[in-house]
Amino acid sequence: MNNFMDKIVSLCKRRGFIFPSSEIYGGLGGFWDYGPLGSLMKNNIKQEWLKRFVQQKQDIVLIDGTVIMNSKVWQASGHLQSFADSLIECKKCHSRFRADHMAEGRFVNQGKAKQKNQCPECGGKEWTRPQMFNLMFKTFVGPVEDKAHIAYLRPETAQSMFVDFKNVLDCSRIKIPFGIAQIGKCFRNEITFGDFTFRSREFEIAEIEYFVKPGEDEKAFDYWVKEWERFFLDLGIRKENLRRKEIKKKELAHYSKRTIDIEYKFPFGWSELAGIANRTDYDLKRHSQFSGKDLRYFDDKTGKRYFPYVIEPTLGVERLLLALLCDAYQEIKGGRTKTTKATKEVEVLLKLNKRVAPIKIAILPLVRNRPEIVEKAKEVYQMLRPYFMCCYDELGSIGRRYRRQDEIGTIYCLTCDFQTLKDNTLTIRDRDTMKQKRVKIKDLIKVLKEKLEE
Ligand code: GAP
Repeated sequence: MNNFMDKIVSLCKRRGFIFPSSEIYGGLGGFWDYGPLGSLMKNNIKQEWLKRFVQQKQDIVLIDGTVIMNSKVWQASGHLQSFADSLIECKKCHSRFRADHMAEGRFVNQGKAKQKNQCPECGGKEWTRPQMFNLMFKTFVGPVEDKAHIAYLRPETAQSMFVDFKNVLDCSRIKIPFGIAQIGKCFRNEITFGDFTFRSREFEIAEIEYFVKPGEDEKAFDYWVKEWERFFLDLGIRKENLRRKEIKKKELAHYSKRTIDIEYKFPFGWSELAGIANRTDYDLKRHSQFSGKDLRYFDDKTGKRYFPYVIEPTLGVERLLLALLCDAYQEIKGGRTKTTKATKEVEVLLKLNKRVAPIKIAILPLVRNRPEIVEKAKEVYQMLRPYFMCCYDELGSIGRRYRRQDEIGTIYCLTCDFQTLKDNTLTIRDRDTMKQKRVKIKDLIKVLKEKLEE
């Protein structure tokens, strides 16, 4: 990992965004826990997505399917046969890697790999022949551990939206074109994980299956590429850090006629953040065939039945969170405040968008040794908590506390000071401009609501 990435990883650990899962037992590769700040931020991302694509779209409904489904789903979807990566094993230390990653030379300069095709773990040069490895995690449903009871943890959320297609149509009376949306956990037994949370084995996908008439799919595809990009830009990701990548025909997933990946310029290079796929009528046809249930759509205007085409915009919630952190992270050498003490320091500013920042408001008493000021600040904290995600901090100098809040992206710091005791006002400090404004405590909720919704 490079220096910038190390700083992000360190901030995440230190301030409670992301920790290695099961860390006290040595961790578990590819699994991450989201701490007090990370879990709030992740939740904010999901809420923004739901607001944008479910609440504000008349033609999209939400479902919440299960992680484990009937195994026949994965036969029909083609995942049992095709959801696999090519794996090679070092003959010396038996470490396993993705053959395509090795061929790209990804491990060069990592560990002992100084050259392409040299094992990054032990420097070995001899490899087994590539063999296909299915990425789905297996488990058993019920107390009998035999072949008949094998089940899989879902590697994508998409399938429940196809399998529930008829149920959704019947209960919502929605008409084509329309979409089904879902956010949920997915599991992939990735051969090589890494680049922090970028390639994890447990992660969340937010995706929509948008059903259209055949022939209207290409227009819908273009629409969703733009919608997806607009979502990222509106969350504050810089335009120059996003680009489209047209997936080559021979690299398309087994269900796709066309896919565009939206890539983000991560510190470790341009990599997939999200994608838009034209899944055609592949999934509904396959599920009809395997289940024996007719999943065609009935068009009451023409009296005809047909299999709709499906456009699928998809994104990884954790990848978006990582991109937002990387995009927002700034270091200011010498500090932003020109006091002599600060000039030697590097200040970190996490310029997160208001809507995704985990903490919106910090309430700070100017000093800790004046009980009236502390009491007033605590009163304000209690008053604001039902409305905003707030925190209270009284430890250290006020300058240091501002910096601690800037480092986690808190939008406003409210300070109760000596004047508060005289006239019931306090200062609101803006994270980005550092400008302070005095506001009456009785107007605070209104003022903050307006500012945060601006
Ligand atoms: N239903 C389509 C689908 O699952 P995908 O490109 O395989 O498509 C969707 O996955 C999104 O999930 C990706 O764009 C990426 O953001 C995220 N993703 C995929 N594999 C991941 C992994 N191992 N760790 C974290 N996020 C991942």
